[in-house]
Amino acid sequence: MQRDKKLFIKTYGCQMNVYDSLRMSEIFAAEGFDITDSAENADMVILNTCHIREKAAEKIYSELGRYKPLKEKKPNLKIGVAGCVAQAEGQEIINRQPLVDLVVGPQAYHQLPKMLEKLDQGERSVELDFEIDDKFLQLKKLETLNLRPSAFLTVQEGCDKFCSFCVVPYTRGSEVSRSPDDLLEEASALVDKGVMEITLLGQNVNAYSSHSNGSEWDLAKLICELAKIEDLKRIRFTTSHPNDMTDSLINLFATEKKLMPYLHLPIQSGSDRILKAMNRRHSVDFYLKIIDRVRSSRPDIAISGDFIVGFPGETEQDFRETVELSKRVGYAQAYSFKYSARPGTPAAEMEAVDESTKSDRLLELQSVLADQQKSFQRKMIGKKYMVLIEKIGKENGQVVGRSPYLQPVFLEASQDTIGKIVPVVIKSYRTNSLEGSLV
Ligand code: 5AD
Ligand code: SF4
Repeated sequence: MQRDKKLFIKTYGCQMNVYDSLRMSEIFAAEGFDITDSAENADMVILNTCHIREKAAEKIYSELGRYKPLKEKKPNLKIGVAGCVAQAEGQEIINRQPLVDLVVGPQAYHQLPKMLEKLDQGERSVELDFEIDDKFLQLKKLETLNLRPSAFLTVQEGCDKFCSFCVVPYTRGSEVSRSPDDLLEEASALVDKGVMEITLLGQNVNAYSSHSNGSEWDLAKLICELAKIEDLKRIRFTTSHPNDMTDSLINLFATEKKLMPYLHLPIQSGSDRILKAMNRRHSVDFYLKIIDRVRSSRPDIAISGDFIVGFPGETEQDFRETVELSKRVGYAQAYSFKYSARPGTPAAEMEAVDESTKSDRLLELQSVLADQQKSFQRKMIGKKYMVLIEKIGKENGQVVGRSPYLQPVFLEASQDTIGKIVPVVIKSYRTNSLEGSLV
């Protein structure tokens, strides 16, 4: 294939999708595609979709419809659908929307080169295979091409938890962990290429469970072993489930200096009644005890979380308990969503809360969470933090890095600082970032 093509990827949804888009762009790069940020300039458009929202598939169909005029203007433009809607809808996408050329599920991205070859011969294709080992093997080569100071490493995929609102166990399949040997080898290869920080990724990352040399490996053991790679300076992991927060993982926040003080630990609701209906299989009290233990292990830790408001049956009292819980935890940052029914999930059959109540509750919770975020940031002003500089900023002479708590930090510094961990004094903050100066 000629090497002058352009790829436009539009990413919806979670961090896994952001990461998958990155990996897809690497696969396409190997096929001669450069990234463009406009569909108009593209030879190939990929919608990397998320199935979590209500009517996600319908929204993708209407989004696809919007590409019709562009495809008429550029008949050679190819359009692909990836991600969880691709997995859920499969062949139906091509049947319903003839302008789609390929449909690829999240477990099948390594098939893209073969699919492009077919496309060159005029053949549209659908790949949804679930051969997880094969996928990891194929992607291994690509992950080691990463040259940024901070990289993602998928250690686990899928979910066996079946929260009653969530479609992930159906679209991403059951929990599968990668072998420790592969992960250590891959992490070393990333570090050899200049990576200093690795974020271990998994839908349920702390459910990581594998074995090597006759011993069992959990996430804590994996982190300990990764930390032995000398030039690897920072380790993070996301997303965790409260029920898989083991003592050894919690203790690691105290003992392993390379493990960064940030924990994304969703609770979804502060009402035991709603947690039960959500099939979360833990109580508010259980969650709070974990937070306490994590904080005794690492007092400065930044806690992040996810909330759903307006879950079926949520009363005003339930919602008040959610607000109460969020205040007790004091989140450094958190995401909150209005419940939306996902067809095929148990909660979709339950009686809905009306839209305007959901909107009011979301507004209230978001304002509480925003205040908490501000107060976390305010406490950082005037203090010094070690920042890993990742890239140049938008303004002249500016670079951007990450604080230990994962916040983007903007500062004036030379480009030589990229790939270094430098001391920065925080001067001010914005909604989701900090500004500082080099010490
Ligand atoms: N409605 C609203 N939010 C949802 N999430 C998952 N499923 C739904 C749904 N049906 C949220 C949860 C999860 C995050 C990734 O998305 O809070 O933690
Ligand atoms: Fe979905 Fe619950 Fe699994 Fe998270 S733990 S992916 S919310 S089913």
